[in-house]
This record gives sequence, C-alpha cells and structure tokens, in this order.
Amino acid sequence: MSAATKTSLAALRHEPIKPLIGTRILNSKEELLHGGYAAEIRELLEQRGVLVFPKINFTGPEQIAFTKTLGTFAPEGYGNTDDVTKITLDVKENPSSAEYLKGSLYWHIDGTRNDVPILASLLSCKVPASWGGNTGVCNTYAAYEALPAEKKAEIENLRVLHAPWASLFYYEPEPSLAKLQGFQRVGELELPLVWKHKSGRKSLVLGCTSHHVVGVDHTKSAELIHGLREWATSEQFTYSHEWSVGDMIIWDNTGTMHRAETYDPACGRMMIRTKLEGEEPFA
Ligand code: OGA
Ligand code: MN
Repeated sequence: MSAATKTSLAALRHEPIKPLIGTRILNSKEELLHGGYAAEIRELLEQRGVLVFPKINFTGPEQIAFTKTLGTFAPEGYGNTDDVTKITLDVKENPSSAEYLKGSLYWHIDGTRNDVPILASLLSCKVPASWGGNTGVCNTYAAYEALPAEKKAEIENLRVLHAPWASLFYYEPEPSLAKLQGFQRVGELELPLVWKHKSGRKSLVLGCTSHHVVGVDHTKSAELIHGLREWATSEQFTYSHEWSVGDMIIWDNTGTMHRAETYDPACGRMMIRTKLEGEEPFA
C-alpha cells in the first residue's frame, strides 16, 4: 500500500446506541473493506458488546473479506472451506441445521461445547422476518460489573455444566429418547460461571445450555442460573436489533449472550453468518 493510500483512510465514525451496550459504525463499505480499522473495531467490540453496521449491504464474499480483516476466519461448513453460513429456521432452506437453530431463540453463547469459544459472530440480513425476528444481545461484562459485591463473592468460583441437550427442553418438552440421546452425543462441558479474562475483566457465562451449577443444591442452582440470566438480560444491559435488509451486526461472543426473537419459521427470514476463531479459553 502506498503512503498516499494509507494517509487517505478516513477516521472510524461511530456513535453509542445505549449507555452500556451497542455502537453504530457509520463508515462506508469501501472504507471498512480497507481493513485499516481492525484494531479500533476490535477494541470497540470488546467495550460495547455489539456493533451495528446499518445497511452496509456486504455481499457474501465481502462479508468474508471483512471478517478476515478482524482476525482468523472460522469455517463452519463441511470441508472447512471459507464460506458464509445460512441462518434460518426454515427447514426447506436449511435442512441440516434448522432444528438445531431452534435453541437460538433463547439467550445463549455460541460454542459452549468448546474450551475456546469463537471470538465473534457477524450476522447480516438478506430477508427480514415478516414479524418479530429481532436479534437481542446483552452485555455480560456490564452485567457482572454491576452486581453487588456479595453476589460477586458468592459466585466467584462456581462452575456450571453446559450441555446442548439442556436447551432441547426449552422448545421440545417431551422429546423422544432417541432425540435426547442424539443431542447428548453432541457432548457437554463444565465451564466457570465467571470468566476471568486475560485482560483482567470478568463476564458471566450463562445461557440456555446451562444445566446446573456443580456441587450446589438443585433448587439453589436453578435460582442462580435463572436469576443471573434475568439480571444479565434486563433492559439496561440489552439491545434488540430490528433488521433492515443489508444490516450487519457483530457480537463479542466472549462478553455477551444473544438470541433471535420469535418469528414465523416459514416467513423466509434469511441471515448470513461468518465467525471469528476464538483466541482465549474459558477460564
Ligand atoms: C446465531 C444466532 C440469532 C438470530 O447465528 O448464532 O444465534 O437472530 N442467531 O438469527
Ligand atoms: Mn447463536
């Protein structure tokens, strides 16, 4: 790159959405694809939980290229090729994973089956839902930080068993044994309730994959999991994005939870997702 090109890069333009979560990025697609804002965008992402790029209108290849400016692209499909992933509850469009995506209607972190969860997801809108279908994001750093000192002390060293099969019951209360066992084969993982990041910050690790708090009475365990989820997803820590065609959002998967809000699975809602490889294990 010539010195002239380098110095002509405009400043990153952004504005906060709510005091504790969300920032809108206002630069053009061409400016963003340049890649020169990566460090600033990564910093904002960690501070603000979710970044919104209104009507940025990235094509699939552009979204992949932009994702790669921010970190290591995490392939999702079979064959490990770099491609976008279709996100829809419509079984006709997504026969292999529409079923699994039903869990995305409940607050969750992507990839609690991995010691190193993905760093971030980038989701863009091709077709919005006919009704509903916002994406909600909550800031689990801010939610932790705002807890009273006694609560922080109480939960500091607790661990939670996470299992995708726990979230099955949210939308299918009476699954067949075969289906339950199929979900159980996906695996489970014990994770800290409070993630002590290398940066020194702490965030809550919760979501619909939380089965129980290890070594805690089951009634108390349910109170902790659901009470903290209610706290972390309360108004002050959450942002709900109402989609227009061409919008893109990025959530920091290490310091937020997110969910799709209810929509008609047959309405044609179609989102495109790319992911960034994780850089830090739960700890
Ligand atoms: C996801 C997800 C939410 C949505 O892609 O991981 O949870 O609104 N999506 O589709
Ligand atoms: Mn998700």
